[in-house]
Amino acid sequence: MIKTISWDRGTVVMIDQRTLPHEERYITCREYRDVIAAINNMTIRGAPAVGIAAAMGIALGVLNSSGEQIKEDFYRICDAFSRTRPTAVNLFWAIDRMKSRFEKEIASTTHTKVTAIKKALTEEALCIHEEDIRANRRMGVHGKRLIKDGDTILTHCNAGALATGGYGTALGVIRAAHEEGKKIHVLVDETRPLLQGARLTSWEMKNEGIPATLITDSMAGSFMKRGIVNLVIVGADRIAANGDVANKIGTYSLAVLARENGIPFYVVAPISTIDCSAKTGDEIPIEERKAEEVLEFHSTKIAPEGFKAYNPAFDVTPKRYITAIITEKGIVTTPFGKRIKDLI
Ligand code: MRU
Repeated sequence: MIKTISWDRGTVVMIDQRTLPHEERYITCREYRDVIAAINNMTIRGAPAVGIAAAMGIALGVLNSSGEQIKEDFYRICDAFSRTRPTAVNLFWAIDRMKSRFEKEIASTTHTKVTAIKKALTEEALCIHEEDIRANRRMGVHGKRLIKDGDTILTHCNAGALATGGYGTALGVIRAAHEEGKKIHVLVDETRPLLQGARLTSWEMKNEGIPATLITDSMAGSFMKRGIVNLVIVGADRIAANGDVANKIGTYSLAVLARENGIPFYVVAPISTIDCSAKTGDEIPIEERKAEEVLEFHSTKIAPEGFKAYNPAFDVTPKRYITAIITEKGIVTTPFGKRIKDLI
């Protein structure tokens, strides 16, 4: 199994997702700023993976703190992580988990040792990582029931081992069905502009020997209409209390096309992706990334000099297009009512 991220004797090691699929190289973060840079420049990406990276980055920052100002350092580092990427709520969920653990340690004794706090925060980050892998495997167990032998599954972006602590959410369900011996075929959306589908999902499918074929984003509707797609499975960056889902830009179009063609549309995500403070998807902040990502392809300009481009990294799919949400606690089918909230 791919090691997306790991804690190695006071450093954070991660596979560099920018150079995949051509080069498998790992980077070592020795201070929390290296982890912040890795999140910002997409060395590591995907909602749960970003949360785990932040937790490990916070642990790393505190580990390197002199101790006298551990409280100030801790909150300053948490703030710095919260300014990295705004849409995936797993980031803020992980920061809150680290804060709760820090506050518990501080409160536990009047003479809490700095070394004990450092150890506790490292433990918490590792625990967040392990819990995520377990949750992914549970989602796989629940979700594989929705896949039939012979199905062709369309997926968007990368919601695999690379986007999580390991195994994956949407790709975890696909993996679990494949491991069970079901004969499936995956249609991989290339996912412009950063090509997470072409570069990362294809790489994961190839490594696992799961039959898969790459298509451009604009082909999806035609394949659905021709009866080639049996179901669509995607991940999520944030799920509002009513069941609206923010995910990689292009997800909304797929959901509408799936409805038009009578194809089930499934979202797979851990509980840490649910944000009940957002009542609907309208309250989810959407990250706007640099125009160059759209205006260039592998550093080659593809539009006239000085041309403008929009680059929202995510969109919101209204709950009415979603057939079911698969979490580690089970499958919630539409209409969701209050059942999303009840999962927390
Ligand atoms: O911009 P990215 O690559 O971080 O976007 C990733 C996605 O949109 C994924 O589908 C989502 O985070 C779910 S990952 C399990």
